[in-house]
Amino acid sequence: MNKTALVTGGASGLGFELALLLAKDEYNLVLIDIDAEKLKEAKQEIETNYSVNVQISAKDLSQINISEDIMAEIGNTQIDVLVNNAGFGVFGAFHEVDWNRQAQMLNLHIITTTHLTKLIVEEMVKRGSGRILNLSSLAAFQPGPMMSLYYATKGYILSFSEAIANELKGTGVTVTALCPGPTKTSFQKVVANDSSENKISFNMASAKDVAAYGYKAMNKGKVYAIPGGFNKILATLPRFIPRNSAANIVRKIQEKNREE
Ligand SMILES: NC(=O)c1ccc[n+]([C@@H]2O[C@H](COP(=O)([O-])OP(=O)(O)OC[C@H]3O[C@@H](n4cnc5c(N)ncnc54)[C@H](OP(=O)(O)O)[C@@H]3O)[C@@H](O)[C@H]2O)c1
Repeated sequence: MNKTALVTGGASGLGFELALLLAKDEYNLVLIDIDAEKLKEAKQEIETNYSVNVQISAKDLSQINISEDIMAEIGNTQIDVLVNNAGFGVFGAFHEVDWNRQAQMLNLHIITTTHLTKLIVEEMVKRGSGRILNLSSLAAFQPGPMMSLYYATKGYILSFSEAIANELKGTGVTVTALCPGPTKTSFQKVVANDSSENKISFNMASAKDVAAYGYKAMNKGKVYAIPGGFNKILATLPRFIPRNSAANIVRKIQEKNREE
């Protein structure tokens, strides 16, 4: 019998690439995303190419308690792999960015990631098996002026994932935090709130490569995974420089990326 994987934000970008890898390994899929049309297209593409069932559900995952609705919808379906991937970035000074957008991000990155993990990991522990892949970011390793909440929430996801991965040792359940650097998806356009992309693009990875790296790390039960040699150096660098210097560097990069 096929196993089942649930992927949030599975209709595009890294979530979709991860869904393709799971389908290739014969996982049935539950894809949740905000856009019903994109979900239908993703379902069609996956079912055309792989012999798996794809259940889709259009939901705004920034709604508080949405995780309970998801559990009610999937009913008795056993979730063998959970990928907490849905997320977005917002550029701008903390005091200037619209609160509703900030609250949506806090709810999506922190509340929904945590709640869905909580509801699904309990069953995984009872069964003695399961894999969880949480999308953190290179942003998790230092403060991020001009994208303060994004960096802070990705730091939360990394810390949360590492801590529960440790608690779960010996249970058969693993938790992996994937920490990509800049990756070519719609993400950068959403951050900029227009059609532009990062001005600094020499270190831009493809979504396929990043997903493949994260998927392999998840299957090996690695606690965290940073794709790319340069990104590994960038993740380590803040340990060797004063914290305010790290913040200054990030601010310069963010402002350069978004300048007119
Ligand atoms: N791309 C990068 O440079 C990068 C680097 C490090 C980490 N990450 C992380 O990787 C994850 C995936 O991002 P991506 O690069 O693949 O971006 P993406 O292509 O924009 O994919 C994110 C998906 O999540 C969906 N989504 C956003 N808000 C949602 C909500 N409230 N409810 C349900 N679905 C929602 C998006 O739908 P819509 O597009 O319709 O809004 C989109 O389909 C994110 O957690 C991101 O923080 C990305």
